[in-house]
Amino acid sequence: MKNTIEIRPATLEDIPEITSLFRNTITHISAKHYSEKQIKAWASAADDIEEWEKRIHKLYFILAEIDNNIVGFAYLKNGNYFDGLFVHKDFQRQGVGSKLLRIIESKVMMNDFEVLKSDVSKTALPFFDNKYFEVIKKQKKTYKGVMFENYLVEKYL
Ligand SMILES: CC(C)(COP(=O)(O)OP(=O)(O)OC[C@H]1O[C@@H](n2cnc3c(N)ncnc32)[C@H](O)[C@@H]1OP(=O)(O)O)[C@@H](O)C(=O)NCCC(=O)NCCS
Repeated sequence: MKNTIEIRPATLEDIPEITSLFRNTITHISAKHYSEKQIKAWASAADDIEEWEKRIHKLYFILAEIDNNIVGFAYLKNGNYFDGLFVHKDFQRQGVGSKLLRIIESKVMMNDFEVLKSDVSKTALPFFDNKYFEVIKKQKKTYKGVMFENYLVEKYL
């Protein structure tokens, strides 16, 4: 039988598991689409603990768990901006991202917005495409002095 994916809000105690998932997913999964320099800069965001604390305090931040282990997380900013979605490197393509997205979409509708927006990586684009997001533009963003290509996407709910 397939293991059940449980969703719950994140707490500050989850930060070590969240940041290790974040780093591992970027270095193992996103490394297929970005250079070593880009991956190093992106993964280093795991170390900014103050920023993770702020996200958990201020944003709608949820976790997906299987057998009490964190297998993914997602957070929503300003009511309808999907700011982060990461699935554990060993749990890719098992429906974790889909379940997190469904909960995020319900929250956006409860917040009374009809459109969900995000800036998504090259790695995540096929997932968002599968979920009927429309690419508004391909863009370049600088993070820690390193340039990244990503996509502004949106979906009417
Ligand atoms: C993008 C991501 C969150 C998707 O999570 P996931 O749990 O693997 O996604 P799901 O299993 O729910 O996938 C649902 C569908 O999306 C599509 N999809 C997902 N990943 C895909 C991929 N790498 N290539 C092609 N299609 C993909 C498929 O149609 C999939 O359905 P299927 O597996 O039955 O064919 C995950 O791959 C991830 O963590 N990526 C790296 C981090 C990242 O870039 N995050 C986004 C930052 S903006």
